[in-house]
Amino acid sequence: MSRQSLKIGVFGFGVVGQGLYEVMQKSPALDDAIVKICVKNRKERSLPDSFFCYNPDEILKDDSINTVVELINDHEAAYTIVKGALESGKNVVSANKKMIAENMEEMIALQKKNNVSLLYEASACGSIPIVRSLEEYYDNDLLTSVTGILNGSSNYILSRIFDNNQEYDTALREAQELGYAEADPVFDVGGFDSLYKLIILTMHSFGIAVNPEDVLRQGISHISDFDINYAKEKGLKIKLAGQVERLSNNRITLFVLPRLVGPEKYIYSVDEEFNGVVIKGLAYDKQFMFGKGAGGNPTGSAVLSDITALMHNYKYEYKKAKYFEPFTYCKDAVIEIYLRTTNPEDLELFGFQSVSEEYHGPDASFVTGMISMNALLEAQEILNRDTIFIAATGKALNY
Ligand SMILES: NC(=O)c1ccc[n+]([C@@H]2O[C@H](COP(=O)([O-])OP(=O)(O)OC[C@H]3O[C@@H](n4cnc5c(N)ncnc54)[C@H](OP(=O)(O)O)[C@@H]3O)[C@@H](O)[C@H]2O)c1
Repeated sequence: MSRQSLKIGVFGFGVVGQGLYEVMQKSPALDDAIVKICVKNRKERSLPDSFFCYNPDEILKDDSINTVVELINDHEAAYTIVKGALESGKNVVSANKKMIAENMEEMIALQKKNNVSLLYEASACGSIPIVRSLEEYYDNDLLTSVTGILNGSSNYILSRIFDNNQEYDTALREAQELGYAEADPVFDVGGFDSLYKLIILTMHSFGIAVNPEDVLRQGISHISDFDINYAKEKGLKIKLAGQVERLSNNRITLFVLPRLVGPEKYIYSVDEEFNGVVIKGLAYDKQFMFGKGAGGNPTGSAVLSDITALMHNYKYEYKKAKYFEPFTYCKDAVIEIYLRTTNPEDLELFGFQSVSEEYHGPDASFVTGMISMNALLEAQEILNRDTIFIAATGKALNY
């Protein structure tokens, strides 16, 4: 198949858009491929004014542009842009995990209907080539789970807390200054960013489009000194991790939770803005992918890789959805969690199946025990109270 010549219209010239531009300057085959950049506001930029436009149609309705790269921070506008580009026969690269995760089935259908390609490696784990690896290399029945630190910003904050004794707010501010954090920090520290990435990884691992709203998700924003000391006394760190796991009878379970991890785990040593993904399978036990999960140049490099893949007419085949026996999403797996609250009576609100550790003190109470995912899903509203923090211990039943 011949190499396609690309004429690219880019949407967005923020952290990732500028990162992509810089990375492309190092790739001579592509250094004049960008013909237009659509942004939102008129302001002074590092490139001449003539590069920029403010009306999406200047790219979407330009027949000479065959490729759209969508790198904006507004998921609703991104949906309209990506859909419009695919419908007008343009291939698209996007880094927008929320837009893709929430519209996964429609995005797959749009590609098929219009015979175009939508690639989104940069949407999950920045510079780590996880999506294409799951799609192409792990394309057989051996894969059993994918677990990872999927959000660079919250990992940066937790690293600073555990390794540098920094305060949460100081670490969050630094993550924002360094360009790791999304405009709204809740997206990162609330676990939403990790969840959207996990939904994308689940599609390429097991071929099932799970609705993000159906998945157990808790973030790190309620972490307290009590939780940090609890982990440190046991020689553990707290990491925010997403996990999708194959269960018996073609079922899968998935969740995003803070996790207590010891030094024997690969993700224990994933620090700062780095991401790390552990892939487990029959026959090969476990493998580990590690790399920068945020920042302009690392994320730009993943976008560049998708752009060059388009030059070779690459498309995701969604092989697991196409060729595997369908998987179903199971919510009744039982996992062990640590649950700390400043209101001891809250502990009665959860249906723990068994308790391995319990403590009541003047400042906080906690329980470590087995609980069903269904019980936690039903208690999401209570879990969202800022007096409560939970973390998975990694132990599980019913798998
Ligand atoms: N930052 C990271 O490390 C990272 C990593 C992986 C994935 N991502 C994803 O990459 C995307 C971009 O993130 P970012 O950090 O680069 O964002 P950002 O720095 O906030 O930049 C956003 C850019 O989008 C432009 N924009 C916003 N709405 C627009 C619209 N309706 N039409 C045209 N342009 C519009 C803005 O224009 P103005 O310049 O005029 O304001 C700005 O240039 C997001 O989906 C994010 O989740 C980011």
